Amino acid sequence: MSTNHATRSAFAPGKVILFGEHAVVYGQPAIAVPVTQVKASATVTPASPGSGLTIVASDLGADFRLDTAPPDEPLTAAARLTLFHCSTAEPDATLTLRSTIPIASGLGSGTAVSTALIRALAEFLGCPMETAGLSALVFEIEKIHHGTPSGIDNTVIAYQKPVYYRKGTPYEFLEIGEKFSVLIAYSGMPGNTREAVEGVRERWQKEPDRYNQIFSRIGEISQEAKVIIETGNPDHLGSLMNENHELLQEIGVSTPELDQLVFEARNAGALGAKLSGGGLGGHIIALVKSNIDFISGELEKKGAISTLITPVTNRNSNR
Ligand code: MEV
Repeated sequence: MSTNHATRSAFAPGKVILFGEHAVVYGQPAIAVPVTQVKASATVTPASPGSGLTIVASDLGADFRLDTAPPDEPLTAAARLTLFHCSTAEPDATLTLRSTIPIASGLGSGTAVSTALIRALAEFLGCPMETAGLSALVFEIEKIHHGTPSGIDNTVIAYQKPVYYRKGTPYEFLEIGEKFSVLIAYSGMPGNTREAVEGVRERWQKEPDRYNQIFSRIGEISQEAKVIIETGNPDHLGSLMNENHELLQEIGVSTPELDQLVFEARNAGALGAKLSGGGLGGHIIALVKSNIDFISGELEKKGAISTLITPVTNRNSNR
């Protein structure tokens, strides 16, 4: 293929799940918001004729080539899927990936990387993608990462908007009645979403009635939270976060470190706190209204590796 393409770049934000993780895999609604203070970016530049496509994952210190990578290597799988979607042969190009989203932190690093990669490559190939198509391709790569994803992560990251998501029904964007702030604290223990989701499935198979009851209550919490968020009473989200965390503990996806951070956040003045994402490590979120710097400082003293505040607003950008 000739190299008369121009350089193209794209980026994708991180995400947090406010309510409903795990239950969303079983058809219950969940709420997720983009986190634009962290992001993955992809840049595609033309390379010399005959060189093919090389993917440079700068943060992993690794290069991948389409002709040699195994079929389940997620980055090259995303590139192959894009070429197929665009009905295009492999270009001569270098695709460089960078990300400020901590890996395995529950902030959607793998999903954001796939999203940026596919968007940048499609634009480079002259076949820019509709967001719905992009989200659908990223979902295919999510299956490699996580086995049985619900689809919430690719939806919130591709659209970059707060979303109320229920598998199998059209997603809804949330209208935020009153801006509120969520503190994200990273435990420093890598999470493993695949393992967490598989573990929940095994336990659900052993005790379906108990687990279905828990999932239904989590679904109700997401519905209640949606109303609260849309009508602009965000302070009331705190107790729902606390209850959601207890239910996540019951299904076995919390850890002593996450429980400790949740406890410390509440103790320092957060209105509520819970683990967020797959669990078994990763991060917690806390609803914060005042003394935000104090609460962040306390969490960092008590074991959080890093903290960040994300305002939840209707704007795409959380600045
Ligand atoms: C991961 O961010 C959220 C989970 O509910 C898995 C999924 O929805 O695919 C744990």
